[in-house]
Amino acid sequence: MIDRLEKIRGEALDALKSASSQADLDEIRAKYLGRKGELADIMSSLGTLSKEERPVVGKESNRIKNELEGEFKKRLDEIKSGAVSAKQAVPKGGRWTPKDTTLPGRMPVVGNRHVFREMLDEIIDIFYGMGFSLALGPDVDTANNNFDSLNTPPDHPSRDIGDTFYIAGNGPDDANPYLLRTHTSPVQVRTMLSQKPPVRIIAPGRCYRKDTPDATHYFSFWQCEGLYVDKHVTMADLKGVLTAFAKKLMGPETEIRFRPHFFPFTEPSVEYDFTCICGGGGCKICKGTGWIEISGAGMVDPEVFRAVGYDPEEWSGYAFGMGVERVAMIRYNIDDIRLLYSNDLRFIEQF
Ligand code: DAH
Repeated sequence: MIDRLEKIRGEALDALKSASSQADLDEIRAKYLGRKGELADIMSSLGTLSKEERPVVGKESNRIKNELEGEFKKRLDEIKSGAVSAKQAVPKGGRWTPKDTTLPGRMPVVGNRHVFREMLDEIIDIFYGMGFSLALGPDVDTANNNFDSLNTPPDHPSRDIGDTFYIAGNGPDDANPYLLRTHTSPVQVRTMLSQKPPVRIIAPGRCYRKDTPDATHYFSFWQCEGLYVDKHVTMADLKGVLTAFAKKLMGPETEIRFRPHFFPFTEPSVEYDFTCICGGGGCKICKGTGWIEISGAGMVDPEVFRAVGYDPEEWSGYAFGMGVERVAMIRYNIDDIRLLYSNDLRFIEQF
């Protein structure tokens, strides 16, 4: 009888090891510890045993019962906490598929830099390569830096409250109101006020204007300003640097052209265009003209030099600006500026 008890104990412990669910446990419990189970069967036959055997078998049955109860509890806890190894998890009948550790893992989604940032860094790199250094200014600036020192008359329409964002409590009629800069040109002023010539800087930064958003306008956008002040700087230097920039950015075939224009802070002033990537044949981007308008430039007006304390008889210089979104849109054939700010993954993931 004791042998039979030991056999039951061994079988029950083996069955427990391969149990992988509550259902398995219930089944095993019924078989060994249930009312009609193996142990119950032995207990009910105690009466047929001899007087000597009876207490020994009875005691051993109870001990095994308690031991098995304890093992059941342990196994149940293991199953509940998921501490079942893949090997243990396969029941004899093979109802579960174990984890296949040879399968390739799932790749986490990897982000990439925004196309606009890429563009900005590329522009900065090209000018670094030509000896320019980086100058930065604040988004909130004074009308003095943004307009007056740049030779912009007090009645210039760009100062209007309908065009420029003034900081609360400030307005166009105040002496020197705070505003959100409307271009990066005030960084020219700040740089010249803080250092002596020669100066060779670019100043990328965010600008703000009260424009209604559409495919080519946004109330906030980036410009990259350029300023070079030294002795005997000419328009030829300006054209040289912008041509080199155009070729690096858009390819060696690219040419540039100047068209006469007016800006209060440069004299003479030009607008400059790049030849289109269609090679001049005419396409949607250049609207059939073969040229793409980039931005403005010119020779620094002597009035600007005077405003910052540089002697215009001694120093000369050129300045230029460009819309960074505009350059990115041409370079990557993007037809709506708002896409750059939409955070729409369908757009962002294309680049
Ligand atoms: N600040 C001008 C604008 O926002 C662009 C510009 C034109 C910048 C001529 C310059 C320049 O430095 O010389 O439209």
